[in-house]
Amino acid sequence: DKAGHRHFMAKEIAEQPSVIGAALGHYLSSDGTCLTLPEGVPDFAKVERLTLVACGTAYYACLTAKYWFEQLARLPVEVDIASEFRYREPPVSPGTTALFVSQSGETADTLAALRYMQGRAAKIVSVVNVPESSIARESDLALSIHAGAEIGVASTKAFTCQLTVLLLLALKAAQDRGHVGAERLADLLSGLRALPATFNTAMERNEQIRAIARQLATAPSALFLGRGLMYPLALEGALKLKEISYIHAEAYASGELKHGPIALIDETMPVVVMAPCDALFDKTVSNMQEVMARGGRILLVSDARGVTQAGDCVWQTITLPDTDPILAPILYALPAQLIAYHTAVAKGTDVDQPRNLAKSVTVE
Ligand code: F6R
Repeated sequence: DKAGHRHFMAKEIAEQPSVIGAALGHYLSSDGTCLTLPEGVPDFAKVERLTLVACGTAYYACLTAKYWFEQLARLPVEVDIASEFRYREPPVSPGTTALFVSQSGETADTLAALRYMQGRAAKIVSVVNVPESSIARESDLALSIHAGAEIGVASTKAFTCQLTVLLLLALKAAQDRGHVGAERLADLLSGLRALPATFNTAMERNEQIRAIARQLATAPSALFLGRGLMYPLALEGALKLKEISYIHAEAYASGELKHGPIALIDETMPVVVMAPCDALFDKTVSNMQEVMARGGRILLVSDARGVTQAGDCVWQTITLPDTDPILAPILYALPAQLIAYHTAVAKGTDVDQPRNLAKSVTVE
């Protein structure tokens, strides 16, 4: 049942405020001011290293979580793609906690990587959407993301719910390791509780994104750029666009632009820049100038301050509500999804069942 939407993907994008709220409801106290993660979540003060492993969109959620665990909890994190991890057979130190992220809980490579960690890691935790899944059953502890069934092949609400749960874990780690003060924690939790409403405000950009997407639909390829926490999101934006619209898309960390990809820039290739006005924004502005100087068309996704600061030389801007930079990857997932969705609809591709893809990849 698409609940009045044209596609499951549209329905699942629209559900995000409510499912993110549900995920928060499961792991926060009723007044929302304390973390109430279940027993069995490790005491991160005793964890020496965290290894995160997943595939596809879930891997980008892990990459985002690396920034959170390192910045907020000063915990060393390693992130890997499951198909690489399992065959590389990396050495695992005994103080390692392994964390697997999977919507379906049945992805063959992720499951094989999990089995490799059994008997090697001190603890195996998974973050899943299907609590009865193989990955959940074979973990020491499975945390559900509470996103509800996801039918569209392109993952949307599962991604933002994965991010939400991973951020809560990172906050627990920060607390356990004494790296976050009560005030900062309260701030971040209140930002998280406000996220569903912030998402609804951001949803007001839907029609504008639809109009921009009609122009993107004619592009042969697109580039996504982001720095820091926005880099994994740029990767996710490019994956979403290529898998449902079949437009070739690549993502780079903004600072890598001049190390090669800038050679691709011309007026036919739109460059999507995901950049809230944070501490690194000035650097992103200079990257955008480099693109514009070569005739590149920039679609800037930022907040009001960022859009003002970038000036009116950019091709298009999408203004999102202000949010704490730590929470920005969750909010900025929405325009990334909407850009891909409306571009695919404009091209007339099969949004919910893109060619060659399956919802659950149970063979390698
Ligand atoms: C992309 C997408 C895939 C999955 C990947 C992992 O939109 O859906 O990249 O994220 O196949 O699947 P799970 O999370 O079920 O392990």
